[in-house]
Amino acid sequence: MTPDITAAYTRRALEYSERLGSMTSVHMLDLHVVTEWAERLDGPLIDAGCGPGQWTGHLAARGVDVQGVDLVPSFIAHARRTHPGVPFDLGDIGALPNAPGTVAGVLAWYSLIHHEPSSLRGALAECARVLRPGGELLLGFFEGPTLEQFEHAVTTAYRWPVDALSDELRSAHFDVVETHTRTGPGHRPHWAIMARVSV
Ligand SMILES: C[S@@+](CC[C@H](N)C(=O)[O-])C[C@H]1O[C@@H](n2cnc3c(N)ncnc32)[C@H](O)[C@@H]1O
Repeated sequence: MTPDITAAYTRRALEYSERLGSMTSVHMLDLHVVTEWAERLDGPLIDAGCGPGQWTGHLAARGVDVQGVDLVPSFIAHARRTHPGVPFDLGDIGALPNAPGTVAGVLAWYSLIHHEPSSLRGALAECARVLRPGGELLLGFFEGPTLEQFEHAVTTAYRWPVDALSDELRSAHFDVVETHTRTGPGHRPHWAIMARVSV
């Protein structure tokens, strides 16, 4: 799965960075949810699947101790150029570069949407591994009434019912603490789930 995602995003990295790689393209409600969550936690944080690095850069500028990680070399190069001094690493959410129990928060903002359902639990378990007791995961994703695959602009992605994704989180030793949603005409429903690793 990973090589396909890398290749698909590598092909569209420049276009993605131009269209979505700055905070001007972020919805106000998302800005509020992610920023408040990150500032509430006492770092360090990982922006896992950071893409062009706009969230990492935004949070770092607000004084959050945050590091961006992504599979795609051109995203990491773009992020380093655009946000000098902010740490960005090439890496896989399924094998994060952090020691166990050392991280206060993992932001997975639309970065687990491409995981096949059978591989999602492994990625969630990896997030749980790096989180310290009480650490939190914030997931952004597309919601749907049933678990279904759809043709995302870059590569195949999945819509998850909130209940089914919450079950996956519980299986990976997370407690769901908060959910947020926003919808709009012509948009797929967007959801965010905050989950705390069980102690
Ligand atoms: C829809 S984009 C979201 C990017 C960014 N979080 C944002 O909000 O703009 C999905 C991102 O997840 C990254 N990604 C997908 N699977 C990954 C994995 N296993 N490890 C690291 N990054 C991954 C992709 O390379 C891509 O940058």
